Amino acid sequence: MVSKTPRHVAVIMDGNGRWARQRGWPRSRGHLEGAKAVRQCVETCLELGIEYLTLYAFSTENWQRPKEEVDTLMGLLQRFLRDYTRDLAGRGVQVQAIGRLNELPRECQDQLEKAIAATAGNKQLTTILAVNYSGRTEIIDGVQRLAKEVASGKLRPDEIDTDLFSRFLYTHEWPDPDLLIRTSGEMRISNFLLWQVSYTEMYVTPKLWPDFSRQDLVDAVAEFNRRQRRYGGL
Ligand code: FPP
Repeated sequence: MVSKTPRHVAVIMDGNGRWARQRGWPRSRGHLEGAKAVRQCVETCLELGIEYLTLYAFSTENWQRPKEEVDTLMGLLQRFLRDYTRDLAGRGVQVQAIGRLNELPRECQDQLEKAIAATAGNKQLTTILAVNYSGRTEIIDGVQRLAKEVASGKLRPDEIDTDLFSRFLYTHEWPDPDLLIRTSGEMRISNFLLWQVSYTEMYVTPKLWPDFSRQDLVDAVAEFNRRQRRYGGL
């Protein structure tokens, strides 16, 4: 069988809290280790020749967590961007972000903007951070922009089809994910890339995110290779 590398891998990085609690540590320690696993994951994607990596870093629902945990997550994201952008830029990684970014703390927006600018045009791997993201809000944001185009007469309602609508999503520049990985064994999509995962292969592993290693990503890609994708055909 010809081995194919998925072009686009998306990851629901779940289980940081449980990983920490199992060790009697605060949840924040799990997120810290989770950020290390993010670096490992980016490096393995580079090694395997994956072109796009989308990481679910913070959902629109995560604001409901205690303020201390929200602050930890925002701080970790900023630290990751501050400490790692130069390295990413040197390896040909382009950083991108999706979500309602204008609702993030100012410093976080600034770090994201800096990382995006410093890595613009890089072609080896595009790493897309989903921050203050949910699939439903993405669709609503797209529908609002589309409705404005219709109201102003730039578009007719009968011109709207799946291709046209995809161009109104945050992800319009990139192919849909080929492989969606979820750690910690939960069998849920959790409002992630709802439109884009229509024909994506899912891979759920019981491993908690901080334990997700290079070999785990290699195993997920090998499993992807064993699947036959039919896109609704035969
Ligand atoms: C889910 O685990 C994970 C998150 C809500 C945050 C993911 C964040 C990171 C991996 C670190 C920072 C990100 C970057 C890109 C540097 P959970 O806390 O819901 O785990 P639980 O289900 O065991 O409680």
